[in-house]
Amino acid sequence: MASKKIILTGDRPTGPLHLGHYVGSLKARVELQNKYDAFVIIADLQALTDNAENPEKVRKNVLEVALDYLAVGIDPKISTIFIQSLIPELSELTMYFLNLVTLSRLERNPTVKDEMKQKGFGGNVPAGFLAYPVSQAADITAFKADLVPVGEDQLPMIEQTAEIVRKFNKIYKPILVEPKALVSKTAKLPGIDGKMKMGKSLGNAIYLSDSPEAVKEKVMKMYTDPKHIHAENPGHVEGNTVFTYLDAFDNDKKAIEELKKQYRQGGLGDVEIKKRLIKVLEEFLTPIRKRRAEFAKNPKAVMKMLEEGSQKAKIAASKTLAEVRAAMKLDYF
Ligand code: TRP
Repeated sequence: MASKKIILTGDRPTGPLHLGHYVGSLKARVELQNKYDAFVIIADLQALTDNAENPEKVRKNVLEVALDYLAVGIDPKISTIFIQSLIPELSELTMYFLNLVTLSRLERNPTVKDEMKQKGFGGNVPAGFLAYPVSQAADITAFKADLVPVGEDQLPMIEQTAEIVRKFNKIYKPILVEPKALVSKTAKLPGIDGKMKMGKSLGNAIYLSDSPEAVKEKVMKMYTDPKHIHAENPGHVEGNTVFTYLDAFDNDKKAIEELKKQYRQGGLGDVEIKKRLIKVLEEFLTPIRKRRAEFAKNPKAVMKMLEEGSQKAKIAASKTLAEVRAAMKLDYF
């Protein structure tokens, strides 16, 4: 029997997950988990690379992220959900990989560059932060993942992983798998302020765990077309956050096309399209919120699920690491 292809993806536990995570990756994980051997990593060590002084925050969000996973339908019976730090093999592999990348290559990674600016490290970038793409490469390759379902911002990570794999396979032995990114077809979701990146620190995200009131308030504040002041004026649909969200979440594509036409012609107010978006988001979020609340009643059971997932993940990673050590002549006894 041909074995199933392997997918691996995950998140940093630095805060609850938002609609951008859903569109960029969670949706694909739920769809793909039946077809592939799926691993989902809660990357607590990666979270610590820029939160060294906030271990409590990372610890707390491990549970929050796990609840978000369960709420959207990642099924721990078929997907292996695990905690990064419980698999020391991943840190070991990171150490080996660090010899296969240069400092200048790390400094050129566009995602890391953006994040460094955003986080305002100035001259004080933690070495662990700069090197987190290497640790991510270890996460992916320890499981011999073929596919990595991620948002667009993670493409440089997969590229860097592929480079490391090629180098490793050439120098030592061709045992590692070069992964491919699987980027969602839906356009990237902007923040409610229209900025391209949605994030906790930017204060512009709608979370999967937001209350109906919070969702309403955020949508009503959403960036539209700043020149569309009166309903009767023609408005822009492109770059209009409300329409971008409607495209991602409203299943009635025909109605949306009609609304876009009206908006462009003039005669359709922002409040009206926002009301529609609130309704659409509520339909999407209500069952998620309900499931989340159900799982949240029993955090012990959720942690137990993570413990079991981590045990399973450790077995898979240990196998690869035994091969890696042998290939690197580190299998002494
Ligand atoms: N860097 C990812 C994020 O920002 C999290 C992550 C850690 C990850 N390890 C991974 C994603 C491995 C995909 C594969 O959310």
